[in-house]
Amino acid sequence: MKGIILAGGTGSRLRPLTNVTNKHLLPIYDKPMIFYPLEFLKSMGIKEIILTTGKEFAGDFADLLGDGSAFGVSLTYKVQESPLGIAHALGVTESIIGEDSIMVILGDNVFMLEKEEEARIRERVAAFASNPDGAVIFLKEVDDPRRFGVPTIGNGGKLLGITEKPTHPGSNYAVTGLYLYDSKVFRKIKALRPSARGELELTDVNNAYLTEGKLDYSVILGEWTDAGTFESLHKANLIAKEARHNGK
Ligand code: DAU
Repeated sequence: MKGIILAGGTGSRLRPLTNVTNKHLLPIYDKPMIFYPLEFLKSMGIKEIILTTGKEFAGDFADLLGDGSAFGVSLTYKVQESPLGIAHALGVTESIIGEDSIMVILGDNVFMLEKEEEARIRERVAAFASNPDGAVIFLKEVDDPRRFGVPTIGNGGKLLGITEKPTHPGSNYAVTGLYLYDSKVFRKIKALRPSARGELELTDVNNAYLTEGKLDYSVILGEWTDAGTFESLHKANLIAKEARHNGK
């Protein structure tokens, strides 16, 4: 299984912090934001990682991360010519991935898990990697689901659908920026049409898997946040600091 970090986009919700740099190079407590998804993939046992970003700051990522050997991983870079959406950013990695299964993480997602929870997710990932078929999303209970992709969950925990940034959320869960896909994901991306916000959405890819009965989910226990708004960037700093002081 290969890992993919999506670190493009405009970071428009963090202006002026992102006027002269990429969001994922901003600090979260004592490290650049991009270290968190990179270290998370490594903690999942994934050593071959592809990072996609826009051309404006691609060189800065190479300066910071090099070939990945300082982090114990192998890093390859791919440029996303324009910020056309998360699914588009994933699509540009197709030529490198081939028939492998993938774990995708959004570059602004911070997971701080206890050792037992980390081990549970790692086992889930290993099980998928040994027999990749469909997709897996990871959910986290949140106070305000409206700014995320939100699952509607029916009787017996059955996943009924996912809505991107719903006005009336179907549950109190957010779809986190962590996904497992088989290699058919690239065919699904090619069939996408831009969403209301003009982007190719992974939520539409996930709903396509759901329609085929091929979407599974797992609920994450532990700290998680994205860091794409001032509020969530602040929260990310707090949970990173707390984790560091607890020896993580
Ligand atoms: O953080 C979890 C949420 O992330 C999910 O709940 C949503 O379903 C998902 O759509 C996403 O929502 P956001 O509105 O937070 O996505 P955002 O536009 O901030 O993009 C998230 C990351 O994806 C960002 O850190 C960089 C990467 N990205 C984004 C775009 C638009 C790219 O690499 N290229 C792009 O063109």
